[in-house]
Amino acid sequence: MHISENNLIPDDFEVIDFNRRLKSWYLENHRPLPWRETKDPYKIWLSEVILQQTRVVQGLPYYERFIDQYPTVHDLAAADERDVLRLWQGLGYYSRARNMHFTARQVVNEYKGEFPETSEKLSKLKGLGQYTAAAIASFAFDEVVPAIDGNVYRVMSRIFGIQSDMLSSEGKKEFSRLARQTVSREDPATYNQAMIEFGALQCVPASPNCAVCIFNDRCFAFAHQMQGQLPVKIKKLTVKQRFMNYYVVRQGDRLAMQERRGRDIWTGLYDFYLIESKLFATTPDELTITDSIFRNLLTKGRLSEVPKLYSHILTHQRLQVRFWWLEIPETERIDLPPGLAFYDHEEVEALPKPILIDTFLREEDYL
Ligand code: ADE
Repeated sequence: MHISENNLIPDDFEVIDFNRRLKSWYLENHRPLPWRETKDPYKIWLSEVILQQTRVVQGLPYYERFIDQYPTVHDLAAADERDVLRLWQGLGYYSRARNMHFTARQVVNEYKGEFPETSEKLSKLKGLGQYTAAAIASFAFDEVVPAIDGNVYRVMSRIFGIQSDMLSSEGKKEFSRLARQTVSREDPATYNQAMIEFGALQCVPASPNCAVCIFNDRCFAFAHQMQGQLPVKIKKLTVKQRFMNYYVVRQGDRLAMQERRGRDIWTGLYDFYLIESKLFATTPDELTITDSIFRNLLTKGRLSEVPKLYSHILTHQRLQVRFWWLEIPETERIDLPPGLAFYDHEEVEALPKPILIDTFLREEDYL
């Protein structure tokens, strides 16, 4: 494909040819997925939020459970946040689930349960970025707007030879300019699904099979053997280390848990009494425990350290986590520090928890 030097934009004929090939590839090769069989913006939105989080194979059962439990935006709006987080458990990025719940309420209360029909209006809803807004607008309402996710950046940078950083704002503008030129005017919904699917199945991140690719006669990356270098992504991630010491206060089958609040990780999920430290402490004495209620509690029970150290990686944080059991005899009457409450086995099972906590409880044979 000829691309002019300055603007990387193919001419009209090339766009039409590109779209024709892409669409026929899609019609033959795409996976039949439930969110592709519907025009319901609620279902499409749900699928996109889940798929920002995980791959199709892992996301599909979550999607089906959500649709089962909350078939419409009204059902999600009426749900308890705790139940929504519990259903989301394992996907990570829990703020997405909380935003989704918030937005469902907004759609019901401010928009009478009808999603706005343009990407511009959709992008004003909480938690909907440009990509999600464009995806819903094109899939549900056939708006001519490109939906550019990670797959699409990869496909475009390779075929059209875009070498600017897809994570920079300049780079994003360049991709967006080109995508607005190439998006199909006749069938933007299929175009967007096809670009995503092409990136997911054919133009995969590592070792794509270019020998069978429909664009191998016109792909910049293939011609220059630059599949490994494109797209360009310059990451500037700093990873913060955190050391977390959890005290799992247990009395009989009941565990003391607390709902996490504020703007830190895992808001709305339940964990145990937590002391963070600059480094790992090997005994509670090494932690400065200023909380007198908790210090008192330590005198009432038997403390045992869990030998396994857990570590958990989040986007910007590496958590290193140590657990202690604090067994309190059933006969003791005790006060818990504020925020903590006892939950029995069934309740602990039902509460939304970070996967780390869930794994710990399973490995300790509590769950
Ligand atoms: N990833 C993001 N959106 C998707 C979609 N609609 N289908 C498949 N994978 C996706």
